[in-house]
Amino acid sequence: MSNVNDSAIIILGASGDLARRKLIPALDSLQQAGKIGKGCVIVGSGRKDFSDDEFRKHVESSESISPLLHYHAGIKGLKTYLDTLGNFKTIIVFFSLPPKVYADTAASLRAEGFGNETRIIVEKPFGYNLESARELNRRLSEYFEEHHIYRIDHYLAKEAVQNILVFRFANSLFYPVWNSGYIESIQINASEDLGVESRGAYFDGAGVIRDMVQNHLMQMLALLTMEAPVSLEPDEIRMQKISVLKSLEVVRFARGQYEGYRTEPMVDPDSKTETYAELELRIRNFRWVGVPIYIRTGKALARKGTEIGIRFKQLPRLLYNAGGNLDPNRIIFHIQPTTGIVIDHTVKVPGTDRDIAQSQLDFCLSDAFGPPVVEDAYQRLLMDALAGDRTLYVSAEETELAWKVLENVLDKDTLFLYRRGELPESPLGIDWIDFSEYKGGC
Ligand code: BG6
Repeated sequence: MSNVNDSAIIILGASGDLARRKLIPALDSLQQAGKIGKGCVIVGSGRKDFSDDEFRKHVESSESISPLLHYHAGIKGLKTYLDTLGNFKTIIVFFSLPPKVYADTAASLRAEGFGNETRIIVEKPFGYNLESARELNRRLSEYFEEHHIYRIDHYLAKEAVQNILVFRFANSLFYPVWNSGYIESIQINASEDLGVESRGAYFDGAGVIRDMVQNHLMQMLALLTMEAPVSLEPDEIRMQKISVLKSLEVVRFARGQYEGYRTEPMVDPDSKTETYAELELRIRNFRWVGVPIYIRTGKALARKGTEIGIRFKQLPRLLYNAGGNLDPNRIIFHIQPTTGIVIDHTVKVPGTDRDIAQSQLDFCLSDAFGPPVVEDAYQRLLMDALAGDRTLYVSAEETELAWKVLENVLDKDTLFLYRRGELPESPLGIDWIDFSEYKGGC
């Protein structure tokens, strides 16, 4: 990617944790890698009354990035202040703010004179349900055009997630079998071993369906099942994701909560928020008719790992499968902590006539290519926003459709309890692949 000069990056809420922990370090790495040039400035803005030096100290900036850093208290006068620093072709405004102030902040930026050179970056949650998401999108659109609004879904910045489209559309081996004629089911798993930790106040008002399913898991599902786009232009890819989201329906679901959750800090002692969810979905289109899609995510489970399992259909009951017990092929995408792809297949046991066994073709990204070039999601997302590339960002329509799919699921139904640190038996009776058996070869 070319060096992006003459850009201003503004961080609203810059005295908060995110700026210090993630955004400034990400910008620092980009600068050291020569991705943002000397003509750029970074302006922190927040409620505190810092001088530039106090701000640099607050975010513990390195010597290399410090000369680019400035600070301005509040939004009032921010544009006039920015104009004293230079004339910028592109202005990125990162909202490190509570979502409830997004719309008013967008209004204030406009009133201050931020115009069409400005792109705003916002983080989830984008609304709380369909209605509030629509309202938020409507209000943001009063001040900024859709192609100037960058909604982050950090899963899209993961290498393994980006590789899904390449795997599907750059391999003649897999493209023809990616449909209900060959695939029996799809499983998407995102397990976390940590509980809510210090995030009880936010999480208790959300739950894993809002926190993980509506965004990260829906995006992975859409990339896995969408039709081939006409080109790799962001809008073409988005159009195909939208089309899948429109055909998606939840058939069944179950919600769980780990024991002890209600005594976590800042959690309601009578909380009915789910920390675990399992869903079965269907895509009502020709490609996927009849194929169940299972989603599972939870906190305080036995392990951390995000994987996708594609289970192919059984062979006819002939030859090696005469008894009907031959394992069907599977493809496992390891999203994290390791990044790779495993293909399960059957081989002959050497030295025997007919004995067969399961074997794995293993691709490990870091073995093949070394450590990732861009390690951190924020680096990648900031770089893309500077370059005006919205491929890894989510549109208003996608967020609304994902809420729509989940409309009858949110806060519904009873909760079952599970023990912290264990993987509960599937409440829907789904035959989950034991992803812990797949080490991903890394
Ligand atoms: C965030 C959620 O979006 O994603 C968190 O708010 C969750 O609750 C996190 O833990 C998971 O991200 P990752 O990249 O660790 O899988």
